[in-house]
Amino acid sequence: MATTDLHTDEASRQGASSCVGVFDSGVGGLTVLTALRDAMPTEDFIYFGDTGRTPYGSKPQEMVARFAEEISAFLLSKQVKAIVIACNTASCAALDKLSRTLPVPVFGVIDPAIDAALVHGKRIGVIGTSGTINSEAYQTRLSARGAHVWSKACPLLAPMVEEGLWDDPIAQLVVRHYLEDAPKSLHSLILGCTHYPVLKNVMSRVVPWVNLIDSAESTAEVVRTALHQKGLANTRGTGAIRHFVTGDASSYRLLASRFGVDTSSVTAIDVADLIVLGQQFAATPQQRMPA
Ligand code: DGL
Repeated sequence: MATTDLHTDEASRQGASSCVGVFDSGVGGLTVLTALRDAMPTEDFIYFGDTGRTPYGSKPQEMVARFAEEISAFLLSKQVKAIVIACNTASCAALDKLSRTLPVPVFGVIDPAIDAALVHGKRIGVIGTSGTINSEAYQTRLSARGAHVWSKACPLLAPMVEEGLWDDPIAQLVVRHYLEDAPKSLHSLILGCTHYPVLKNVMSRVVPWVNLIDSAESTAEVVRTALHQKGLANTRGTGAIRHFVTGDASSYRLLASRFGVDTSSVTAIDVADLIVLGQQFAATPQQRMPA
């Protein structure tokens, strides 16, 4: 991959009243967005769902990293004050670089999920997309903290959620297919994909003995604390959410409304424009926000 440090001169215009940018390959990140909104009711948000290029989990890491850079450039063009990568696959592929190069704080979902799982004991399972599981991001971090790890890629689950098949006999079959060999000794199972929390009901029928851990609430707490510490917390926002998607806006609106989020503002973005924005952004001098 070409080295494309992301730069912006927009940073100086960002402040506490700016939005928090949140993105995922599709609707999965809405599980994180709802936790962010609940933890910070006076923040305003921009949610970007890359529905035209979902799923990320089956794509090469370099490609996912490039998508994450383009979306970050888009969010910065809207003067966001922080970016939450509400996607495990993109957190594995891009968090390190984006945190080093973007002019605003960037948050991922992996470490918050690990912290939440370790509360229940050290025998931990993790499921996620092929990209996430093959990156070994979870396995390496968990082992370094003394955990015994069982892991499995579940490539059909995120596309199934994008199809709206949540609590449904098909979902039950697919979840059973992946989880029937989960060890009985597990203390917890990390849902290492932000699409999976909507399958919790089905999963708890298949693996009733484990604590199902998702990263939404723990990530929201990390973001809330950091924004306060950096003087970036908004006390005057209304919890407004603007959505931008690269796929069809009306089918997104239908699915997103099942997450209980306001979908009155959904705008479709052309992927070709997004790519150009990413390229232009990469060529602009960088200026970090004051810490
Ligand atoms: N929701 C995403 C994740 O947390 C990505 C799913 C996909 O696009 O494959 O990994």
